[in-house]
Amino acid sequence: MKSLKKKIREEATVLSPSVIKVDSFLNHCIDPLFMKEIGEVFQERFSDERVTKIITLESSGIAPAVMTGLVLDVPVVFLRKQKSLTLQDDLFTADVYSYTKQTENKISIARDHLGDQDRVLIIDDLLANGQALKGMVEIVQQSGADIAGCGVVIEKGFQDGGDDLRSEHIRVEALASIHSMSEEEITFKEKDVT
Ligand code: G4P
Ligand code: NA
Ligand code: NA
Repeated sequence: MKSLKKKIREEATVLSPSVIKVDSFLNHCIDPLFMKEIGEVFQERFSDERVTKIITLESSGIAPAVMTGLVLDVPVVFLRKQKSLTLQDDLFTADVYSYTKQTENKISIARDHLGDQDRVLIIDDLLANGQALKGMVEIVQQSGADIAGCGVVIEKGFQDGGDDLRSEHIRVEALASIHSMSEEEITFKEKDVT
C-alpha cells in the first residue's frame, strides 16, 4: 500500500534495531480517513474469502479492524487482554507471551461471539514475532470457526511471526512489509508494491 509506505517513511521513528514507532497514525493518533483507506485495502485483499466476522486484539488493532468491518459489512469483536481469571467458563482464552514487553497476557473472547458458523478474518496493527496473531488463531480454532486469514497493517518481515503462520498455511496479508530498518532508512519487501 503506497500511501502507507509513504507515511511510514515520513513519520515513523526507528527506536531500536527491532522497534518502530508509528504513533502518529497507528498506535496513538488515528487519521480516520487514512484508516478507512486501510480498511478498503484489506477488503480488496480478502474479498474472495467469504468473511463473516473480524476479530482483533485491544487496543491498536481496533481502528483498522473497525474500518475493515465497515467496508466488508461484517461485525467486529475485539479480544480482551484479561487480567482476571473469573468467568473462565464462558470464554475462549489463549496465552500470549510478549517478547517486547516480556509479559504474558491471557487474551479472551466470550464464547457467544464466535462459533463454528463463522469464517474469521484476524486483523492487527503490527506483526513481529506473531504471538498475538498465534493466540488469536488458537482461539478461532477452539471455537470451531474457519480462518479466512490474517491482515496486518505493518509486518516486520525480518522477524519470524509472518513466516511461521504462512508455514502453517494461514494466509497473512501485510499492507506494508518492512525488509530492514535503521535510523537512516526503512526498506520494504519487493513484492509489496501496491
Ligand atoms: P507479536 O505479537 O508479533 O509477537 O509482538 P510482541 O508480542 O513482541 O508485541 C507486543 C506488543 O508490541 C503488541 O502491541 C505489538 O503490536 C507491539 N509491537 C511489536 N513490535 C512493535 C514495533 O516495532 N513497534 C510498535 N509500535 N509496536 C510493536 P500490544 O501490546 O498488543 O499493544 P497495543 O498497541 O495493541 O495496545
Ligand atoms: Na495490537
Ligand atoms: Na500494538
